[in-house]
Amino acid sequence: MKDTISTLISESELKNRIKELGAEISRDYEGKSVVLICILKGAVYFLTELSQSITVPVTIDFMQVSSYGSGMVSTGNIKIKRDHEENIEGRHVIVVEDIVDTGYTLTALMEVLGLEKPASIKLAALLEKPERRVKDVKIDYCGFSVPDKFVVGFGLDYDQKYRNLPYIGVVENDG
Ligand code: IMP
Ligand code: MG
Repeated sequence: MKDTISTLISESELKNRIKELGAEISRDYEGKSVVLICILKGAVYFLTELSQSITVPVTIDFMQVSSYGSGMVSTGNIKIKRDHEENIEGRHVIVVEDIVDTGYTLTALMEVLGLEKPASIKLAALLEKPERRVKDVKIDYCGFSVPDKFVVGFGLDYDQKYRNLPYIGVVENDG
């Protein structure tokens, strides 16, 4: 079976928008430093671009979480497969995520991180799918809203494939 991928957001649109988000973050955090916590694996491409357009001091850290259950729909429970390393108590944290779909993953994650008493915690998501939202998670810095289609590229995968595409595309199975 061959997948056809049609472009939804081009490489230059992504890069321009991420620069804007970086500029916004730089303004909001002027005089402060931030800890960027990247949610593996999908957010790595977003993290690298975003962090390079932030002008205040940043440190980067990583977490990997998985939701229980399988398939393309996530459930309310998350499992921390890899925890961040830096102590975030009293620090300004921005969680960097690839996409907020139902919102279950990020709602649970923001709650867990909140228990570690950061000075502030915000969320940056490259994409969101508003039509699919179940949990009302606040996205402080959002790149693009996308329709209710399965998207890949720029870190997002379909069965671990296509993360390295430099654009966001929609997968169409036609085999
Ligand atoms: P949520 O808990 O439903 O918000 O799910 C979020 C996670 O599901 C994301 O971090 C992605 O890993 C994955 N996901 C949701 N929609 C897509 C998609 O369209 N393409 C690739 N991964 C997706
Ligand atoms: Mg993810």
